[in-house]
Amino acid sequence: MAYNLLKGKKGIIFGALDSKSIAWKVAEMAYAEGATFTLSNTETALRFGELDQLAEKCHAEIIPADATNVDDLLNVFEKSMEILGGKVDFVLHSIGMSLNVRKKRVYSDLNYQFLNKTLDISAISFHKMLQVAYKLDAINEWGSVVALSYIAAQRVLYGYNDMADAKSLLESIARSFGYIYGRDRKVRVNTISQSPTITTAGSGVKGINGLIDFTERMSPLGNADAEDCANYCVALFSDITRKVTMQNLYHDGGFSSMGMSLKAMAMYNKSLEIDMGLDLPLDLD
Ligand SMILES: NC(=O)c1ccc[n+]([C@@H]2O[C@H](COP(=O)([O-])OP(=O)(O)OC[C@H]3O[C@@H](n4cnc5c(N)ncnc54)[C@H](O)[C@@H]3O)[C@@H](O)[C@H]2O)c1
Repeated sequence: MAYNLLKGKKGIIFGALDSKSIAWKVAEMAYAEGATFTLSNTETALRFGELDQLAEKCHAEIIPADATNVDDLLNVFEKSMEILGGKVDFVLHSIGMSLNVRKKRVYSDLNYQFLNKTLDISAISFHKMLQVAYKLDAINEWGSVVALSYIAAQRVLYGYNDMADAKSLLESIARSFGYIYGRDRKVRVNTISQSPTITTAGSGVKGINGLIDFTERMSPLGNADAEDCANYCVALFSDITRKVTMQNLYHDGGFSSMGMSLKAMAMYNKSLEIDMGLDLPLDLD
């Protein structure tokens, strides 16, 4: 059900690759709530993804950009203002990638060039986006910028690798820039810490299926899926959250406040009975 929460609002959505992407669901939801926006992703993603279909459905134009390239970002913001007829009201950063994860380099054997890439693509690109928007004065007062994060920024989750460091930096950038953007222009900057979700990026996380089952059992409300996340993004883009800024907002069915749940304990005890006495091979990273 749509509430017209974004009626008359203009935005830019970065990171929709295919129909599983969180950004894809955000675009669909923002469109249903009355927003107009542009879409952006890398040239490679445009070649291999399905963004054209989303653009058609949402009557949105696509502006290619590598989010690590400041000139590309300048172009996205300038073109978006041209296309949409003025400054924007919301921006979604839904971008993440780790070559260490892709190439199966564990955390105690990182390739540092890959690490630089991870940090640049998954975190520093958020600073670049904010700085470009700030310098161009491209976001209206009470506008809202949201980036997507994960609880591995605060807690160790086996296998999340250097993306954990990227998410910590991402959340720190939201606070540091959120102060300046709020103080000077009344623009909000937040991160949403989302449950594990099956998407192209999500599927790269080691043991994602087990992790999703674990967090489902641990969370009193169950995992938040991509559509739930899109709803939360829309609420944060809307005027009903005008005084929320510089926050990392957990959107995880309660997982972040749990230590152990009945459902997880039941499963743990079951496997304990089976595994008792077995010498299981462990990947110690
Ligand atoms: N899926 C999960 O479990 C989960 C959980 C918490 C947070 N997140 C975060 O949500 C965001 C979106 O991921 P998703 O799960 O929808 O997966 P996804 O693979 O659909 O989206 C990741 C996007 O990043 C884009 N991207 C990669 N490099 C880029 C670059 N240099 N410039 C511009 N774009 C680039 C990709 O093209 C892709 O569209 C990411 O920040 C991810 O870390 C995901």
